[in-house]
Amino acid sequence: MKIVLLAGDGIGPEIVAQAERVLLFLKQQGLKIELEPALLGGCAVDATDEPFPEATRKLAAEADAILLGAVGSPRYDTLPREKRPEQGLLAIRKALNLFANLRPVMLYPELADVSTLKPEVVAGLDILIVRELTGGIYFGQPRGIEYQEGQKVGFNTMHYSEAEIQRIAHIAFQAARKRNGKLCSIDKMNVLECTQLWRDVITEIAQSYPDVELSHMLVDNAAMQLVRDPKQFDVMVTGNMFGDILSDEASMLTGSIGMLPSASLNDQNKGLYEPIHGSAPDIAGKNIANPLAAILSVAMMLRYSFNEEEAALKIERAVQATLRQGYRTEDIYEIGLKKVGTIEMGDRVLANLQV
Ligand code: NAD
Ligand code: IPM
Ligand code: MN
Repeated sequence: MKIVLLAGDGIGPEIVAQAERVLLFLKQQGLKIELEPALLGGCAVDATDEPFPEATRKLAAEADAILLGAVGSPRYDTLPREKRPEQGLLAIRKALNLFANLRPVMLYPELADVSTLKPEVVAGLDILIVRELTGGIYFGQPRGIEYQEGQKVGFNTMHYSEAEIQRIAHIAFQAARKRNGKLCSIDKMNVLECTQLWRDVITEIAQSYPDVELSHMLVDNAAMQLVRDPKQFDVMVTGNMFGDILSDEASMLTGSIGMLPSASLNDQNKGLYEPIHGSAPDIAGKNIANPLAAILSVAMMLRYSFNEEEAALKIERAVQATLRQGYRTEDIYEIGLKKVGTIEMGDRVLANLQV
């Protein structure tokens, strides 16, 4: 199995290096994998003048799975939009048709006190956010900044077809079926026609899943409910932009955005795996970034692309053991515990994998 590694920018290379050690350990244990590094994002712009170079496109298309760190840096803020690092990420998602983004929001009990919310609000938290990833306002046309009647106007289009909503709905209902049987669909149907269609299609698809309890919620209320009583949710399904925002919000329930992995899948279960966080320019190069989201993304890769549930669980248990032993990067540190850097956190997870 071929895995392409896209370290990217900022803390990307630092956290991917730790995730790579986990993959190399599994290889040494007999997992048949080949790792191939490639360029995406700002590092690709520097080397080739393109955020998603042809060579990366080819490798990604041939790979069985992809691991990504993060892309982006304020250094590229003045480039034309199509050269921005983020365009590379959007383009690879689109090129591989990775429409289903799974973002599990799970609290490790060891981190209950780290969350900015009260421990009793988050204890036992286990949500799955299913985010549509290749449509919506991120990709809709027309878009742009233009002169109209003597002044500039900026515009984007939120766009979803029935087929796009149906396929993400099936993913979400099937996920809910395997979990606690509850699905909450998030929209803004009181204002946006596009999300009226979203609600109509989700309601229609629900007929094929009578065993799943479906509810609908407006996105502003959902943002509030996530911090009021997050445990009311099992699976949440939503469009591209709402899913982006709600998942960053939800990550803080688990202690840190540095804890949340994700899988972006197409209909052949080809996957790109990445932490939900970005390149964190404010802490890049300091060996303080939390590598656990990247390491947990490897677990998701094993689960979804390689059907290696045992190996996935092994990684997740090693992460939990590391937290139980009190090792913490700065973002999840509490007084009295053992503060470690990015590399040392990798060392500890590796040590726990070896036992
Ligand atoms: P960010 O997620 O990079 O950082 C937000 C905050 O969280 C920062 O304070 C950062 O230090 C902290 N943080 C993030 N990951 C962490 C980790 N692993 N350990 C400890 N702390 C961590 O979001 P931002 O600052 O808004 O964006 C920075 C750049 O990243 C932008 O260029 C943005 O476009 C890009 N971005 C990329 C991705 C991606 O590649 N998937 C995702 C989000 C943002
Ligand atoms: C994410 C990021 C990306 C998104 C950006 C960098 C394009 O925020 O993966 O959550 O908005 O999808
Ligand atoms: Mn995001």
